[in-house]
Amino acid sequence: MRASATVPVIPVVKVPDTAEVLARIPPLTDSARGEIIARIKRLLRDRDAVLVAHYYVHEDLQMIAEETGGFVSDSLEMARFGHEHPAKTLVVAGVRFMGETAKILNPEKRVLMVDSGAECSLDLECPADRFIPFCDAYPDHTVVVYSNTSAEVKARADWVVTSGIAVRLVKYLKDRGERILWAPDRHLGAYVQQVSGADMVLWPGACVVHEAFKAQALAELKGRHPEAAVLAHPESPASVLELADVVGSTTQLIDAARRLPQQTLIVATDNGIFHKMRQAAPDKLLIEAPTAGAGATCRSCAHCPWMAMNDLQGLARVLEHGTNEIQVVEDVRVKALRATARMLDFARSGQPAAVKVPAA
Ligand code: 13P
Ligand code: SF4
Repeated sequence: MRASATVPVIPVVKVPDTAEVLARIPPLTDSARGEIIARIKRLLRDRDAVLVAHYYVHEDLQMIAEETGGFVSDSLEMARFGHEHPAKTLVVAGVRFMGETAKILNPEKRVLMVDSGAECSLDLECPADRFIPFCDAYPDHTVVVYSNTSAEVKARADWVVTSGIAVRLVKYLKDRGERILWAPDRHLGAYVQQVSGADMVLWPGACVVHEAFKAQALAELKGRHPEAAVLAHPESPASVLELADVVGSTTQLIDAARRLPQQTLIVATDNGIFHKMRQAAPDKLLIEAPTAGAGATCRSCAHCPWMAMNDLQGLARVLEHGTNEIQVVEDVRVKALRATARMLDFARSGQPAAVKVPAA
């Protein structure tokens, strides 16, 4: 029954407002902040735990991860680091799919989330009970899913990818003559399709943060800063990517900020990345790509509401009480491991390169 499955209906996702999420986090005085950071560091040591953080979470959490032997990175490197680190407990400062990926790869470890409500719109828009029949309608397609999915969706996939290796993997599959069913991000999927020339069927999900970047307002901003380079994450709409000088994963964008000759950079991704980007390129002027302008609809306004849920008090609580533990049903985990481990093996076989880079 291919006809009915060709246009999947995705659920309507309730997206929290980032400003409201941040307003709910109790403010800390300088001395309370210092005390809680010291307590977290002590607890990480005492509990044989390591903190793995995404670039989009608050800079305090990034700083603690780095000062305690943990790691701050994109979703691919988070998975790799957590897998290779010997600690018995992994604490994930990020969103649920990152914690589930850690559990899929490390069943013997305890994986804790700083906030159990930290979701991802891509994951929520691709529930397994709708996705599996869609795949069944394309039995001759290779199923490639973005890491921003549930363990159940990964269990149905042939491959898991992150934005850091998506183009490289799809080109490899295309060269083997494979047709691809891609999920869940339609913008990343369309970009990969355009760059690779692969035959792809796309699930119609989107990231609420990146989808809100506005091409017209970006073009106007570029007009006011003709000297600037534009860096964009490939979850952004095609009209935004067309204006970009570099398109890549969060790590690739930070690398580009460091090595590009331009002193002014316009950045179309979650503004949590600015903490690391400022460290990588301290002398450069970083400007947020606009989410306002004609047709503005942003609720996140360039900061993911679910990433914003990760805070110091939450981190201290999970370390203290061992709450927010990620569980993945074992037969789902085993199936999801196949496609996830393949991603790490594929990534290891060469360096993921930024995809669209200006001529030197
Ligand atoms: P990266 O893998 O590029 O870090 O992206 C993860 C993500 O959720 C971006 O919105
Ligand atoms: Fe998901 Fe977008 Fe948030 Fe990343 S920024 S976790 S893709 S909703």
